[in-house]
Amino acid sequence: MAIFASGSGSNAKKIIDYFTSVPDIDVDVVVCNKKGAGVIGIAGENNIPVVMIDRTSFQDTSNLVAELEKRNINLIVMAGFLWQLPESFVNAFKGNILNIHPALLPKYGGKGMYGKFVHEAVLENKEKESGITIHLADEFYDRGEIIFQASCEVDPNENMESLAKKIQLLEHQHYPKIIEGFIRKQNHS
Ligand code: GAR
Repeated sequence: MAIFASGSGSNAKKIIDYFTSVPDIDVDVVVCNKKGAGVIGIAGENNIPVVMIDRTSFQDTSNLVAELEKRNINLIVMAGFLWQLPESFVNAFKGNILNIHPALLPKYGGKGMYGKFVHEAVLENKEKESGITIHLADEFYDRGEIIFQASCEVDPNENMESLAKKIQLLEHQHYPKIIEGFIRKQNHS
């Protein structure tokens, strides 16, 4: 698989660690669009090559697709990758692109809804619960078939930091296992 990430990379780290002990599934490459992103160091520590992309090279996806095909990548795992995917990229990996979102989609999704902005909106609306969504990704933000959701309570005295922590815990607990389950199911269908 290829992990697409541009943030601190905490999910990428959990995924990399998890698959270290799964002999038949590998994280082969990390694709990143942000210089200095934490995920670059995490990939380095694990001897995983990093491919840096910019907006121009991402819009014309042919080079990136060729690079990924050269590495026999058949699953794209987005973990904190915030750019909208070009249609040509989606077509190249159709049905094999996973994304994680820090809320219970279809609520709190769409452009600009990422990281703390999601939690802020959840708190502002006094939601009683929030959670995570793992879904198939396409060229639209936070759309696509939902594969898994897990929820947590939002306490009356919840703040941004405490909610972010709860959500991150859920992400770390579930994402690697759901990825593995997805791969095994694809291989048997
Ligand atoms: C995660 O919380 C993920 O759900 C979110 O970015 C964070 C990345 O954290 N993604 C989105 O908001 C996508 N719309 P990480 O770099 O620590 O893994």
